[in-house]
Amino acid sequence: MVRRYDFLVIGSGMAGMSFALKVAKKGKVALCCKTGLEETNTYYAQGGIASVTKTTDQFDKHIEDTLIAGDGLCDRQVVEMVVREAPEQIHELISWGVQFDKDESGGFDLHKEGGHSDFRILHHKDSTGAEIQQSLIESIKKHPNIHVFDHHFAVEILTQHHLGQNVTRHSDNIECYGAYILNLKTRHIETFLAKTTLMATGGIGNIYQTTTNPLIATGDGIAMVYRAKGTVSGMEFVQFHPTALFNPNERPSFLITEAMRGYGAVLKTKSGDCFMQRYDARGSLAPRDIVARAIDTEMKVNGDDYVCLDVTQEDADKTREHFPMIYKKCMEMGIDITKEMIPVAPAAHFLCGGIKVDMHARTSIRRLYAAGECASTGLHGANRLASNSLLEAIVYADLAAKDAMAQVESLKYEERIPSWNDEGTRLPEEMVLITQSQKEVGQIMSTYVGIVRSNLRLKRAFDRLDILYKETERLFVRSVVSKEICELRNIINTAYLVIKHAQERKESRGLHYTIDYPDKNPI
Ligand code: FAD
Ligand code: SIN
Repeated sequence: MVRRYDFLVIGSGMAGMSFALKVAKKGKVALCCKTGLEETNTYYAQGGIASVTKTTDQFDKHIEDTLIAGDGLCDRQVVEMVVREAPEQIHELISWGVQFDKDESGGFDLHKEGGHSDFRILHHKDSTGAEIQQSLIESIKKHPNIHVFDHHFAVEILTQHHLGQNVTRHSDNIECYGAYILNLKTRHIETFLAKTTLMATGGIGNIYQTTTNPLIATGDGIAMVYRAKGTVSGMEFVQFHPTALFNPNERPSFLITEAMRGYGAVLKTKSGDCFMQRYDARGSLAPRDIVARAIDTEMKVNGDDYVCLDVTQEDADKTREHFPMIYKKCMEMGIDITKEMIPVAPAAHFLCGGIKVDMHARTSIRRLYAAGECASTGLHGANRLASNSLLEAIVYADLAAKDAMAQVESLKYEERIPSWNDEGTRLPEEMVLITQSQKEVGQIMSTYVGIVRSNLRLKRAFDRLDILYKETERLFVRSVVSKEICELRNIINTAYLVIKHAQERKESRGLHYTIDYPDKNPI
């Protein structure tokens, strides 16, 4: 089956949905996602979205905080643009029905998180992402120009390669004509021809054993673009959230928002030692890379599987009021956070790099945009400031929407794209061939490519991954395409990029710390 759309959007998170709502005034939009509309990283966001909204705060302070967190690798022009654009995008969110908490005076109730010099995080209790996701879904469902294709898995983007032409990493004229998309209900691959395509596939957390990301976060968009010979950057900068609830049998790991530390919670060892002051004068509210490394060190020194977050000294009613979801979750595990410390450990959380885009959200492939967590914009540099990613997603979706709307009328569908060819393929003999390999990738990445790295660990990870890569490619060519095998390929591809970029960075900077090069190189 061939479908034709002015705008193809792959991903139903903050980036994909806000883009769809904007471009829908200019043409027909296909919005596809691989499970239900709600299952996104966006939905799970707790802390909120950063923006200067009060008179005592300043754009310059938010810019400076972002640059400091980024450890020398942010693109200053991008940072300035995103920070200054934030209030307008917040208004747009509110116009779609998103409700941010207010204080008694009617102003926004602002939280503070690690690395921020002021209170500037707009939030909806401790479930900001769910509030955003649900409000946008309601607007999407009402829009006559947006057709939702849930349970549709994008397998590959379409380029000149599918017309039999030679496309290499040196080709500077690659164009995207849409995507092959697997309808998970009929199990058929449909051809979606599009004048423009937005990649908004989110994060990569599931290349690790422990992650705060939902199961959809398997790096699909990054892997698809890399295979299509597009440019990817900054993959070594994987952010580990310091405080995921320690509960080894749970996937994804439940997040204990950084806002709780902004509110007064303190990190302690199991025995009650407030260790953070030994690592950074900002204590528990130091930037995430510093806190995650400090926790990693304490866990190793003490032989513990977790450290603790102590909020018991704060007013119990206020704690319940500010963090109702966390309170309820911990109570279900038998922990009353107003009386007992919360066991926490770091978990893979966010990717700063991804598909390289310019300040119009254009990728290196024409007619293809990227926004949100799968994009590498230059905002985060070597480390993301908390709550800057929802902001980045909506600002870059807006940039992409403006550019795509300006281009769309001059573009045509590429009608010569052939249908997907599955001749000679059959169902895999055993699913265990896929599921076990996926587990192995997680173990390799968490063991060798985590918070602290070394040349030897990276080499070992590379060699182990290479075996899985070869096995999986052999399996892929003879198998009927399924979500499971595609995700495994994408996980392996994304893990490979993280390792390769980590090997190329011969210094420690931001989120990338290696014992072989503990210092920073001059910039
Ligand atoms: P997502 O919201 O992840 O959406 C990805 C979409 O892509 C999904 O619809 C998925 O189905 C689809 N998709 C993926 N692959 C395919 C495929 N092959 N085919 C079809 N569809 C596909 N950031 C903040 O700024 N503030 C916070 O407070 C905050 N808290 C967070 C808490 C948690 C627990 C997590 C996990 C993240 C948090 N983040 C936070 C990060 C932030 O939520 C994400 O970076 C952001 O929501 C990403 O949005 P997105 O639109 O790029 O992708
Ligand atoms: C959190 O609430 O701690 C997560 C915020 C973020 O990842 O930006």
